[in-house]
Amino acid sequence: MTAARFIIVAIDGGAASGKSSTSRALSERFHLLHVDTGSFYRAITAELLRRGVSASDLRAVRTSVAGLTLGTDLVGRSACMTIDGRPIDAAEIRSATVNGEVSRFAAIPEIRTALLAYQRGQAEVARKAGFHGLVMEGRDIGSVIFPQADFRFFLYADPLERAKRRALEGQTDSIVERDRLDTQRRTAPLACPPGATAIDSTHLSLDQVVEFVSKSIEAAGTPA
Ligand code: DC
Repeated sequence: MTAARFIIVAIDGGAASGKSSTSRALSERFHLLHVDTGSFYRAITAELLRRGVSASDLRAVRTSVAGLTLGTDLVGRSACMTIDGRPIDAAEIRSATVNGEVSRFAAIPEIRTALLAYQRGQAEVARKAGFHGLVMEGRDIGSVIFPQADFRFFLYADPLERAKRRALEGQTDSIVERDRLDTQRRTAPLACPPGATAIDSTHLSLDQVVEFVSKSIEAAGTPA
């Protein structure tokens, strides 16, 4: 690996499977831009709900989404979405209302299409900001957004364990229902893509998951 090497790490998995904690740790360890694509779907969901648009009104969804201007602010090592120049409200996008609605909005093809180029564009954001690559977490990163990513991992964990993790974060989340909707949708469903490394984190600590993933990256030569 040369000093100029720029790596893309894809971390996919279901709700509360440990993607965010793992991605943040990797971002720090390898100086990668951290991109949480779930926060993008959440931000759009919150924005549309604020405008009174429901996921069942496809025409209103299409019109509203087409009119949004998406930008990116760098906050520490993370890429944070702006909508029409405004930063998103971190508390609002983690609210019980957004938790309950986000999978319905994320299943709408026009919303996924609107986010496709935006998500791929994060590689340029990372390059310009001098990161050694990016770690992007979501549901379809290794399958649709960056199928050629240098490293692709798929995290899963027992639903009871995941519910415990959310409760510890003080959140109300419909994990099983979201996974059902995310897995069954037609466009870019949640699935471990062929060739990705699946990791069952049910009985692993965060440190153990990060260690395992880091070793795989280091085995190929650390970036820069
Ligand atoms: O990662 P998260 O739980 O914050 O994601 C919120 C929702 O966004 C999730 O239920 C499905 C959707 N999502 C998606 O469809 N595709 C992604 N790449 C990321 C999230």
